[in-house]
Amino acid sequence: MTLWVGTSWKMNKTLAEARDYAAGLQRALSGRDLAGVQPFLLPPATALASVAEVLDGAPVLVGAQNAHWEDAGAWTGEVSVPQVADAGARLVEIGHSERREHFGETDETVRRKVAAVLRHGLTPLLCIGEPAGVRGAGASTGFILEQARRALDGLDDAGLSRVLIAYEPIWAIGAGGRPADPDELRGPFAALAEEYGGRVAGLLYGGSVDAANAPGLLDLPHVDGLFIGRSAWELEGYLQLLDLAAGFRADGTGRHNPFVTEHGSNKEGVDQ
Ligand code: PGA
Repeated sequence: MTLWVGTSWKMNKTLAEARDYAAGLQRALSGRDLAGVQPFLLPPATALASVAEVLDGAPVLVGAQNAHWEDAGAWTGEVSVPQVADAGARLVEIGHSERREHFGETDETVRRKVAAVLRHGLTPLLCIGEPAGVRGAGASTGFILEQARRALDGLDDAGLSRVLIAYEPIWAIGAGGRPADPDELRGPFAALAEEYGGRVAGLLYGGSVDAANAPGLLDLPHVDGLFIGRSAWELEGYLQLLDLAAGFRADGTGRHNPFVTEHGSNKEGVDQ
């Protein structure tokens, strides 16, 4: 079972900063035992190729924060899945709430993008999450299940088994967000696990994750990893979370492995 621990840098870092971070990560990982933990890193598109080059051979999956559904063409300002793959991406984040809110992503574009990522043999990291109003109305679970269903519509079991889902409630994301109480996440994760547990490569949590709240989040049933923003933008912060996750795996609880405990077999993630 894999515990996924990754970060998106969002729109941050120059090339020099990106290379420094990646080189530091490469050095730090060579002396660490992260058995069972799969680190991943999503730099901005400008730094993707450089970061992938620096991390070549390291046990880190490098990915893109977005990619278009078409392979090529007159789509000014966009990058395609073949292009991010060419630059070294193996994961592609799709449907982050910031893209849905500010860049016109819809359930339909998200669905097309997920399909494009799978078509090219990469791993989609599908982001879903409800706004505060939906949470306030007690409708979180229905909302996120509907987002997931629309994004994954038409996939066969093989396709689905290569998808990572990150549940990121919008109200918990970013500097203005309110960190979730783990108890608030039990219902959504139980619902996601009921529909997708053992069928996808993993169910991750994201939104104001830091070293203080990570243990409680990792301890939640059905949480297969963490997707981190601000707390991992400095290398030390990311390493702290990786170590924490590795310790969590090593402490022998093994509890939050829905694939082993509920289905009796390990689920294949992306090739590592
Ligand atoms: P945050 O970002 O950790 O800075 O809240 C999370 C995300 O947007 O994935």
